[in-house]
Amino acid sequence: MEIGIDGGWTDSAPAWIRGMRAQDDRNRTVLLDPVMLDLCGDVTAQLVLDDGCGEGRFSRMLADRGARVVGLDLIAAMTQAAHEAAQANERYVTGAGESLPFADAVFDLVVSYVVLVDIPDFRAAIAETARVLKPGGRLLVANLGFVTASDGWLKDEHGQRLYHRVDRYLEERSQVYEWGGGIRIRNWHRPLSAYMDAYLSAGLTLRRFIEPVPADDSYRANPETEDWYRVPDFTVMLWEAT
Ligand SMILES: C[S@@+](CC[C@H](N)C(=O)[O-])C[C@H]1O[C@@H](n2cnc3c(N)ncnc32)[C@H](O)[C@@H]1O
Repeated sequence: MEIGIDGGWTDSAPAWIRGMRAQDDRNRTVLLDPVMLDLCGDVTAQLVLDDGCGEGRFSRMLADRGARVVGLDLIAAMTQAAHEAAQANERYVTGAGESLPFADAVFDLVVSYVVLVDIPDFRAAIAETARVLKPGGRLLVANLGFVTASDGWLKDEHGQRLYHRVDRYLEERSQVYEWGGGIRIRNWHRPLSAYMDAYLSAGLTLRRFIEPVPADDSYRANPETEDWYRVPDFTVMLWEAT
């Protein structure tokens, strides 16, 4: 079946919400959450946009730390689920990252937690995040890296990972991925240089760049997660608005 302009997220929302509520995505709970929370720093009383918030898991984590959080997502089922689980200092808006329904220079922090690969016009989305940040405000981004140009690991006859198969890295393109009992979505591959050019063209200044590995070394011995230490799937960047 064809994937629509929502990237497949309307049909995938129920399975995504179930998966996130189970808190069993180790890429988030072990790999990304610690570094993302660390880079957010003290968010007490800050106005934070969680741009592409999904069902609101990271919004809730920031609200628990004292932030006033606005979560935005393209899919109404996502913002509805987030709203139903919200505390007083969270509110949720359905809208597109490419044309944010907010005034200029209002947010202290914008978080983009593995969303840019889902957005067709990533240049517009990055320009929009820069527009809504206050001067000195920060944009924190976690995104998939080179893996969107990979066909996965080539494995030997014993199932051991040999190396990633990456090709057409410089070519911007999309691919459909399916997993998790009902998720079928389109993700976009762009080379890192295209993303960097979009941030710099939006007038942002890079403050931190991290390819995260868990602080807990025990995952190295786990065949399911030892690849985290070999080739990083994710990049995390902290940008500042001027
Ligand atoms: C991989 S999920 C990440 C959700 C959340 N940030 C998290 O980490 O749990 C990507 C999210 O981006 C949303 N999305 C896709 N295209 C979007 C767009 N153009 N504008 C805003 N959100 C979008 C999807 O509905 C989905 O909730």
